[in-house]
Amino acid sequence: MADDSEHKNTQQLRKAYTARSAEEIREYYDQWAADYETHMGNVGYTHPAMVAAMLSRYVPPGDEAVLDAGAGTGIMAEILTAMGYPNIVGIDNSPKMLAVAANKKKYRELHQMTLGEPLGFADDQFAAVSSAGVFTEGHAPLSGFDELVRVTRAGGHIVFSVSRTYLEGLFEEKGKALEAAGQWRFVDASERYNSTPLEGELPAQVYAFQVV
Ligand SMILES: C[S@@+](CC[C@H](N)C(=O)[O-])C[C@H]1O[C@@H](n2cnc3c(N)ncnc32)[C@H](O)[C@@H]1O
Repeated sequence: MADDSEHKNTQQLRKAYTARSAEEIREYYDQWAADYETHMGNVGYTHPAMVAAMLSRYVPPGDEAVLDAGAGTGIMAEILTAMGYPNIVGIDNSPKMLAVAANKKKYRELHQMTLGEPLGFADDQFAAVSSAGVFTEGHAPLSGFDELVRVTRAGGHIVFSVSRTYLEGLFEEKGKALEAAGQWRFVDASERYNSTPLEGELPAQVYAFQVV
């Protein structure tokens, strides 16, 4: 039987899916920031490792700029810097999540920006984008991909997790629409995996697309 701390992990995670606006999800993560990594560690959170593994198939280590979209507390930068990607820029909707990430000193820059709104970057600025745990219910809308494509140079890769409970079907439509518009091309997809294997089943896949 689950003890109280397990219930707390589940509640925190699943409450985030009920947000109905960028303001609501920002407040939610601002309140969670201090405990986020403890709770996610308790549920065996797998998205950052899955996204980093997929990214390393297609993006060679080196100094080119990688945008970590929805960086949160910076788990992705800890992984990517250790694996030879030292030039990481992070964005997130929640200032308090970004403050935890800033303490790690792994990002070249961190900015508060919201996926689904215009991003304050030039066209073609990044060689790659990583995004873990962000394209899911109550979080970034699928329209957020339009700006990620704009800020990634031609030939660059966009690698992200997609929640399969929420975005079944809808994500495929968005991916195909961007492909039909000549914006990106499908490169790779993982098998389905459980993003919280120590507590319940939250099925997901990791995708890689290449900007055209
Ligand atoms: C589950 S956490 C993932 C954080 C980090 N990528 C990780 O794997 O630990 C989701 C993150 O997405 C951010 N977020 C939610 N909606 C967003 C949006 N529309 N634009 C930017 N960030 C958003 C939240 O603030 C939170 O930091």
